[in-house]
Amino acid sequence: MIEIIQADITMLHVDAIVNAANESLQGGGGVDGAIHRAAGPRLFEACRAIPEVRAGVRCPTGEARITPGFELPAQHVIHTAGPVWRGGDRGEPDLLSACHRNTLALAREHGIDSIAFPAISCGVYGYPRDAAAAIALTVLAQARHHTRTPHRIALCAFDRGMAEAWQRAAERLHVDVTSRLG
Ligand code: APR
Repeated sequence: MIEIIQADITMLHVDAIVNAANESLQGGGGVDGAIHRAAGPRLFEACRAIPEVRAGVRCPTGEARITPGFELPAQHVIHTAGPVWRGGDRGEPDLLSACHRNTLALAREHGIDSIAFPAISCGVYGYPRDAAAAIALTVLAQARHHTRTPHRIALCAFDRGMAEAWQRAAERLHVDVTSRLG
């Protein structure tokens, strides 16, 4: 089952939370900043230990990298770099799909059974909420269809507006979800 919840993702007791990071994995604002603040300084060190694939890039857009969660209730953080919205014809939809697909693949590799996603790219990166919601629900529903792991997949909205965008997308796409909204 895919759950839609409204919460601060850093508080969730799940095996892994997903971080909407940037390619450097050196922290930032938004959910990236909140996760680093809650996880403590060792998260920054763990990210810095991830090898650069090219100057300043540890996690190319669309890919995912995993670290421990340190002081977070979640044991792991899966960092992914979403695309910056530039109008929609620069490969953004495929890259945002890849973020979700690669994150789930990495979660499966690590035996992660419960995972929570924030609204990747829907903040600073400016991705339109409804378009991003449709992509997230499509990829998560497809993954649900193919494998049973992670058993629990949650979409975690910080605000009600995003939770409602995911609900609308789930209805439109006939994806079975449960909602627990604050
Ligand atoms: N819990 C859950 N969701 C949160 C939290 C939180 N504590 N804080 C913010 N969010 C939500 C935002 O409301 C938004 O819907 O996460 C979503 C993603 O917004 P951003 O964090 O701005 O991420 P993104 O749009 O992907 O931009 C990534 O911002 O913080 C920097 O280093 C990051 O450069 C990267 C860029």
